[in-house]
Amino acid sequence: MRTPLIAGNWKMFKTHLEAIVLVQQLGYELEGHDFESVEVAVCPPFTSLRTIQTLIDGDRLHFKLGAQNVSSESAGAFTGEVSAVMLEALDVRYVVVGHSERRHIFGETDEVVAAKAKAAFAHGMVPIVCCGETDEERSGGVTEVTVERQVRTALAALKGDQAERVVVAYEPIWAIGTGRTATPGDAEATISHVRTVIAGLLGDGPAAEIRILYGGSVKAGNAGALTAQANVDGALVGGASLDASEFAAIVKACKGNVSP
Ligand code: PGA
Repeated sequence: MRTPLIAGNWKMFKTHLEAIVLVQQLGYELEGHDFESVEVAVCPPFTSLRTIQTLIDGDRLHFKLGAQNVSSESAGAFTGEVSAVMLEALDVRYVVVGHSERRHIFGETDEVVAAKAKAAFAHGMVPIVCCGETDEERSGGVTEVTVERQVRTALAALKGDQAERVVVAYEPIWAIGTGRTATPGDAEATISHVRTVIAGLLGDGPAAEIRILYGGSVKAGNAGALTAQANVDGALVGGASLDASEFAAIVKACKGNVSP
């Protein structure tokens, strides 16, 4: 059984003070039983990680803490970078790597993404490796080739036991922040292809264990249908994760699909 993961990617939103308010509101919206069958993570900007770590600890909240990026280096003269060592010390569990905004705006290649995934594992965290095609790649019929290349490169950098614990997020770029969501059928088709690729690399057992999320304009209204798909193991949520009641409704919609 794969436990679904709903992860909120806050992107570059919320000061650390606003972050406290959002996580407190989320804490009111979700009750203990909401976390029994679904894992819930919040990925605020770096400046809020310490604040949210303290809040989670102090109020015994059930959220896991995630970061949105990590350096592939563990220390050194890399102005502006944040290392996995630093994130580990803040009880960060998940690190989003290879988000399309990092790939496209900041020029991260598949190899850089793979090195970041490796750095996260080296320090006890689990990378959420993002993959996804552009609109042009989609209309050119190369969606599967694109995600396959991205996933293969990331997994190739990992040791077997690490690769088996990775989380993958399939995020079609044309669906991110656009209000255009992949249909549940399209999400399922691409995600099941990713699982087949992983089975080819690691074997059927590990492929059946690895969680593959969908991301791209996930909202309360479509989260249930998306996460009901056999291969869709949760969601990476951007815009809707900034609204506590919307994000809580996504968690509950996903939970509604998990058989007791
Ligand atoms: P969105 O973003 O939910 O706002 O489309 C998803 C993401 O970028 O992870």
